Amino acid sequence: MSRVIEKVERLEGTLKVPGDKSISHRALILGAAARGRQVIEGISDAGDVASTAEALRTLGCFVETMPDGRTMVFAHALKSDVRVDAGNSGTTARLLAGFAAGRTARCEITGDSSLCRRPMKRVADPLERMGARISLTNGGTLPAVVEGGALHGIEYQMPVASAQVKSAVLLAGLAAEGNTTVIEPAPTRDHSEIMLRAMGAELTREQNRITIHGGKPIEGINVTVPGDFSSAAFFIVAALLVPSSRVVLPFTGINQRRIALLDVLRRMGGRVAIESLHHEDMEPAGDIAASTSGLKAIELDDPAVVASMIDEIPIFAVAATQAHGRSVVRGAGELRHKESDRIEAIATNLRALGARIETFEDGFAIDGPTPLCGARVSSFGDHRIAMAMAVAGLVADGRTELDDDAVVGISYPRFFRDLGGLAR
Ligand code: S3P
Repeated sequence: MSRVIEKVERLEGTLKVPGDKSISHRALILGAAARGRQVIEGISDAGDVASTAEALRTLGCFVETMPDGRTMVFAHALKSDVRVDAGNSGTTARLLAGFAAGRTARCEITGDSSLCRRPMKRVADPLERMGARISLTNGGTLPAVVEGGALHGIEYQMPVASAQVKSAVLLAGLAAEGNTTVIEPAPTRDHSEIMLRAMGAELTREQNRITIHGGKPIEGINVTVPGDFSSAAFFIVAALLVPSSRVVLPFTGINQRRIALLDVLRRMGGRVAIESLHHEDMEPAGDIAASTSGLKAIELDDPAVVASMIDEIPIFAVAATQAHGRSVVRGAGELRHKESDRIEAIATNLRALGARIETFEDGFAIDGPTPLCGARVSSFGDHRIAMAMAVAGLVADGRTELDDDAVVGISYPRFFRDLGGLAR
């Protein structure tokens, strides 16, 4: 359904965002790879995470939410020949390819039309080198058939910085003979490494080389999932842009590999702070507070920064339209391979709202500040584009009409309700 977003006077309040999507996927899949039971508290209610849960059930795993709200996962015996549907979720498809490679005889992985356009060779290549047989459609996309078997460890230099590929190789490495080493071109989110270690895997990191020792079983544990920083990012930027606002986001994940946006916004002049820290065994969490700020432009081209805020670039672009000067993002060609071509999606929508934006193959430049003017915008079937445009609509004059609001359910089903709850 389409949704109209109108300018708001201010945003005020405290909001606990849903559990981190990346950590939730891993808690489920590593739970299925473990001995014993994994118990997950605070799991994300995202559509993508539901895709992972359903795919694991199809594979023969037990995945259920208990009356107290926690989710339990365990696997006794996996089915040997299955077809799983990853829906819209790249993390589900790529991590499950790594999971299936060493554990099932035959697993066909498919997805929706967006996912079936996204590159899968990046995950098939290393898994084939480890001994799996993988056939892709048209040489590079889903549906894929993974024929698993006895795997052996490899040393793999990843051509692209991708936490999904790294995690798939580590999952396969866990079931392989010998050591598997993944070398990252830039640091990417390390939730898999943190959880694997907590579950008893022998995993070491030396600079950009991560090595897992194959053959050692991991054990199910209790996992507490903090709020998703990538969801919090929409409210952080909204609080900076809407006048007289202050928003607090308690118990939000602040893993260093995820929060580059915080530092970037601070360098732009944004008033954003982590007000208190929660000491969890595995993933760090904190209460993030953001209030209205004047922003100045920034140039981003450091691969480590770009990789650590890859999912936040659509909302960063909205902030850049209100910053003084020319903001530039380079080295972000991966944006073209997400749920939509995010560079085109951002540019088309922001132009419709009156922003000045130039695109490059690997990024964009935005000249600001520009007063935005309500218009029709499109989600391009992409949850993060929809939420970024909703935030733009809060500061645009007049009515902003978003073509498809339901798509936010891929990562944040309650997004519009939560946003409405902060508007004053
Ligand atoms: C994710 C990794 C990133 C990110 C995606 C989630 C993950 O993708 O964009 O939303 O959970 O591992 P890539 O691995 O393609 O960079």
